[in-house]
Amino acid sequence: MVRVLGIESTAHTIGIGIFDSRRGILSNEFSTHSSPHGFIPRELVEHHQRNFVTVLKRALEKASLSLDDINLIGVAQGPGIGAPLKFGVALANYLAKHLELPIVGVNHGFSHIKITEYTSGITSDYIAIYISGGNTQILYPKTPFDYEVLGETLDIGIGNLFDNFARALGLFPPHGGTLEKFSKKRYVELPYTVKGMNVAFSGLLTSALRKLKTTNPSHLSYSLMHNAFAMVLETAERALHLKKAKALLACGGAAQSVLFKRMIKEVAKENGVSLALTKDEYNRDNGAMIAYASYLVFKEFGDFGFVQAIPKYRVEELRRVASLAFEQKNKKTL
Ligand code: FE2
Repeated sequence: MVRVLGIESTAHTIGIGIFDSRRGILSNEFSTHSSPHGFIPRELVEHHQRNFVTVLKRALEKASLSLDDINLIGVAQGPGIGAPLKFGVALANYLAKHLELPIVGVNHGFSHIKITEYTSGITSDYIAIYISGGNTQILYPKTPFDYEVLGETLDIGIGNLFDNFARALGLFPPHGGTLEKFSKKRYVELPYTVKGMNVAFSGLLTSALRKLKTTNPSHLSYSLMHNAFAMVLETAERALHLKKAKALLACGGAAQSVLFKRMIKEVAKENGVSLALTKDEYNRDNGAMIAYASYLVFKEFGDFGFVQAIPKYRVEELRRVASLAFEQKNKKTL
């Protein structure tokens, strides 16, 4: 039986989750920093430092466990913002050393995908849409650990687009959820940029900001979100046909959007494929997905011995990162 404590700290959330290979997810606790002026690395670290112990205690209490009941430490090793990411990775390494436990690192996007597989029961032959603050990618699982990036954003992540526009409108907290509540369904023409299998959002943002003086901001918010999601779904639909996949899987912070869920349901229905979605609790940044993905990585690659933070960790590098960690650990023990 493997019982994993997973730590998430790649951006504004410090999250701790516990996964048990027999009983499933036992807890998923977090604390998220909100600020009106975007992510300032120093503030994020301060928030995580201040809240880590409380979140850890809550996660153990909810699972009715103590640290002695844990037998694997898992941590998100990237991609993420350097300072908060390193804070979580350092804590994970300390806990593993102190408790004399094995440790593994996982890719944050991979963890979003795997928790969606776990909760939906759809585990292969899908096209994954990973949409969050810093990421927008269309992925295909060649194996459970080897993802092919079929398309992605050429500039900012879709969540960054929403955050930037929400901030310009003075909404708080400035993110997609607030923007969605503020938006009213009336379409205003805005740029739509799809280049092959890739998308670009900066033209859409610039144009929406420019139209703010002359157009109803809630109509602009709706149209900006609508175009951004439609662009992503167009590329996903193309990927679906290219790979002849049987399902669409969507995950990440922006997959919490009600508008997005409505749009993807239509796309899945039109194409006659299944749809894998997960609860908002797992689409936001959280520790349970890190715990579950760590369990999978541990089963496949074994103990890393030590985890290094990789701020620009791309999902297709997973096998190389895991193999390298394993090699280095064996060198040290020789
Ligand atoms: Fe995330």
